[in-house]
Amino acid sequence: MLALTHEIEMLRPATLRFGAGTLECLAEWIAAQGHRRPFVIADPVNAARLDRLGIGTPACFGTVVPEPDIDNLEAAVRAAEGSDLIIGFGGGSAMDLAKLVAVMVGQGRPLSDISGPHRAPPRAVGLVQIPTTAGTGSEVGTRALITDPETRSKIATESRHMLADLVVIDPELTHSVPPFVTAATGVDAMAHCVEAFTSKRAHPIIDAYAMQGIELVGRYLQRAVDDGTDAEARAGLSLAAFYGGICLGPVNTTAGHAVAYPLGTRHKLAHGIANALIFPHVLAVNAAATPEKTARICTALGFDSTGDVLGGARAFCESLGLDMHLRAYDVPEDDLPVMAQEAHGIRRLLDWNPVDLSVDDITRLYRAAY
Ligand SMILES: NC(=O)c1ccc[n+]([C@@H]2O[C@H](COP(=O)([O-])OP(=O)(O)OC[C@H]3O[C@@H](n4cnc5c(N)ncnc54)[C@H](O)[C@@H]3O)[C@@H](O)[C@H]2O)c1
Ligand SMILES: [Fe+2]
Repeated sequence: MLALTHEIEMLRPATLRFGAGTLECLAEWIAAQGHRRPFVIADPVNAARLDRLGIGTPACFGTVVPEPDIDNLEAAVRAAEGSDLIIGFGGGSAMDLAKLVAVMVGQGRPLSDISGPHRAPPRAVGLVQIPTTAGTGSEVGTRALITDPETRSKIATESRHMLADLVVIDPELTHSVPPFVTAATGVDAMAHCVEAFTSKRAHPIIDAYAMQGIELVGRYLQRAVDDGTDAEARAGLSLAAFYGGICLGPVNTTAGHAVAYPLGTRHKLAHGIANALIFPHVLAVNAAATPEKTARICTALGFDSTGDVLGGARAFCESLGLDMHLRAYDVPEDDLPVMAQEAHGIRRLLDWNPVDLSVDDITRLYRAAY
């Protein structure tokens, strides 16, 4: 773990508005910035309620798919030609696409030209991010993930030019998220915090956000699953997701996300549930290497780390209504060894896990989750 004396860089969107009803600020902000041709990137659920943005009937690419791929991105870039402001309106899928559209529109460069770290060109357009799930924290970050259908892997692109000018976190927008998606995305937000907190490159600055995020999920996720209109719980989760997004920047995730990735890329599980399924297993496998931090995580989630960490974490997820077996999501058992090979190759995440996991370790972990 890094000490307080280690340097760290944190990037933030220029302006962030948080709170129920804050979406009302959007029209005024757009006018003040002098943007004239806003263009919304949304999934179908959010494309059907553009009136909530309070900016008339903006042009929109409203067919963002969950875990978007290169085709979905290229269609969005084409549709956005001629705009001067990109607005991401949705969950991580819409916001990740919006980040990439904002650096690609009008630039004539394919994703392969800008993917990876620090290759994207400066934006020629404005960028606003408006999250409608409480999960990824993508709204505060510089990273976007796009699935390559050929290699069935996620392409990560990271650039400070993909950071938003304005983020509006209005928790009222999340009231309509159904219980299953609420639970899965809430565990994802918590997993961002947990993995950053226990990472080999954990940093005290980020630890403070991580621990608050974990506590908020412990306090509010069950409430939001039970009653989607519980405004305090929804706000608590939106804040937790934001803290998780801060954790992703300079520290990022570790084994949980690496092991979850093949579930999405090979078997089409949504990001949230894929990470929820893996979360208890990685928490347990890392527990001996990070005992004090694991104890704080378990306490925040309402169980005791001196007992069965795996059982406690799994029970936490199950009580949210999540079936915690890979087999329930049509993952073929005979693919587990290939998935383990693939996960093991995601060194950008696994190298920071507090415990070194071999291909066999990961296969065992999948079998235990099956
Ligand atoms: N950039 C990052 O740092 C980062 C971090 C984690 C994940 N991700 C990416 O984010 C994506 C996942 O994002 P997600 O988990 O938010 O899911 P999502 O954006 O795919 O949305 C999940 C589902 O919820 C629906 N939905 C969204 N808002 C809703 C609302 N308010 N009411 C009802 N339904 C709503 C969507 O239409 C969709 O069907 C993945 O592609 C993942 O790779 C990015
Ligand atoms: Fe995640």
